Amino acid sequence: MNEHIITLHDHERAAQSALGEAAWAYFSGGAADELTLHRNIKAWQSRGLAPRVLQDLRGGHTRCTLLGREWPMPLLVAPMAYQRWAHHHGESGMAMAAAAQGCGIVLSHQTSTPLQDVASTFLQDQDSGPLWFQMYWQSDRSRVQALLSDVEDAGYQAIVLTVDAPVHGVRDRERRHGMPLPEGVRAVHWPEPTTANGPGLCAGLADTAPRWDDVQWLITQTRLPVLLKGITHPQDARQALQIGTAGVIVSNHGGRVLDTLPATAELLPRVVESVRQEREDALVLVDGGIRRGTDLFKALALGADAALVGRPALYGLAHAGARGVAHVLRLLRDEFEATLALTGCANVKDIAMDRLWPLEPLAQTKPTFLTAA
Ligand SMILES: Cc1cc2nc3c(=O)[nH]c(=O)nc-3n(C[C@H](O)[C@H](O)[C@H](O)COP(=O)(O)O)c2cc1C
Repeated sequence: MNEHIITLHDHERAAQSALGEAAWAYFSGGAADELTLHRNIKAWQSRGLAPRVLQDLRGGHTRCTLLGREWPMPLLVAPMAYQRWAHHHGESGMAMAAAAQGCGIVLSHQTSTPLQDVASTFLQDQDSGPLWFQMYWQSDRSRVQALLSDVEDAGYQAIVLTVDAPVHGVRDRERRHGMPLPEGVRAVHWPEPTTANGPGLCAGLADTAPRWDDVQWLITQTRLPVLLKGITHPQDARQALQIGTAGVIVSNHGGRVLDTLPATAELLPRVVESVRQEREDALVLVDGGIRRGTDLFKALALGADAALVGRPALYGLAHAGARGVAHVLRLLRDEFEATLALTGCANVKDIAMDRLWPLEPLAQTKPTFLTAA
C-alpha cells in the first residue's frame, strides 16, 4: 500500500482512483443532494473537545462491554452490500481485517459472500470484536425463519434489523450510472427482486414494509438479541425498547436513503436520553460520518456504547483489499487511543459529556459544568 496513505481521506481518494465510475457512484453516493451525507461528517467535526490534563492514565485501555461481553474496541464495520464489487476479497477480506484489529462487523443481508464463510473467517480470530448480522424485512415469514436459523447456526451473536429503508432511496448518482454488478457478484442470501407495479406507494413496494408487530414477531423467532438500525426519532427508540429489542442504532443510512435528515451526531443525544429513561442497560450505537478517532470519541461522549464505520472501510477494501481495511481500522484505533490519552481518559468509561464543550459558540456559553466540577 502506498506509504503516503495516512488518513481515511487518503483512503477515499485511492478508492476513487481504483473503482470504475458506476462502482464509485454506488459506494460513495448519497440520496438526492447528499446534504445529510455531508452533514453527518461536519457535525462530528463541529463538536469541540474539552480535554482535562494531568489525569491518571496508567493501565488505560479501549475495551468496552456490549451485550454482556467484553470486546477490544467500541467500533464495528457497518453493514454494506455487495463488497465483492469493491474488491475480490469482499466480505471475507473485510471480516479478516476487522477481526485482526479487534473490531466487530455487521454483515449485510445483501452480502455477496455466504454468511457462513464470513463467520468462519471472522471467528478464527480470538481477539475479534462482535459478529452481528443485518437483516432487511421480508414479507415471507418462512424465509425469515430459515435465514435466522442459518445466522444462529453460523455463530452470529445478534440480529440488526434495518428499518429505515423499506423502499430504495433516491440516489441521483446511482441512477445516472446504473448498477452494473460484475459477473458473479450478487446478493447471495437475497431473493430475486420482486417487480412491483401495483397500486399503493412506490408501486406497491411500501405495502410490504415492516411494521412494529412484525418486529415483535421477529423477536420471538430468535434466541439472539435484536437491535433496530435506522432509528432517528426518540419516540421510535422508546417503542423499540418497549417491545423488547436489545437496543438501537442511530443511523440515517449514511445519508443514502432520505436526504435532509439531521446528522446522527445531532440526533444521538435525544435518542440516548429517551433510551436511558426507558431502560438503563439498553444499547445505543451510532453511525454516519465517522472519519477520525476524535469522531468515535465524541460518539461515546454523547452517550453511544459504540459506533460503526461505513464507507471508509469499503474504501480501504476497494484499493487494497483486506490490508486496506486493516489499515483504515488501525488508523481509527490509533487516533482513538491518542484522543483518550489527550483528553485525560484512561478508558471508555471515563468518556462523558464533560469532555465536549456545549454546542453553542464558546463566546456565548457559560461553562457551568466547570464550576460544578
Ligand atoms: C455502499 C453502501 C452499502 C450499504 N448497504 C447497507 C446494507 O446492506 N444494509 C444496511 O443496513 N445499511 C447499509 N448501508 C449503510 C451503512 O450500514 C451505514 O449506515 C452508513 O454507511 C454509515 O455511514 P458512513 O458511510 O458515513 O460511515 C450501506 C452503506 C453504503 C455506503
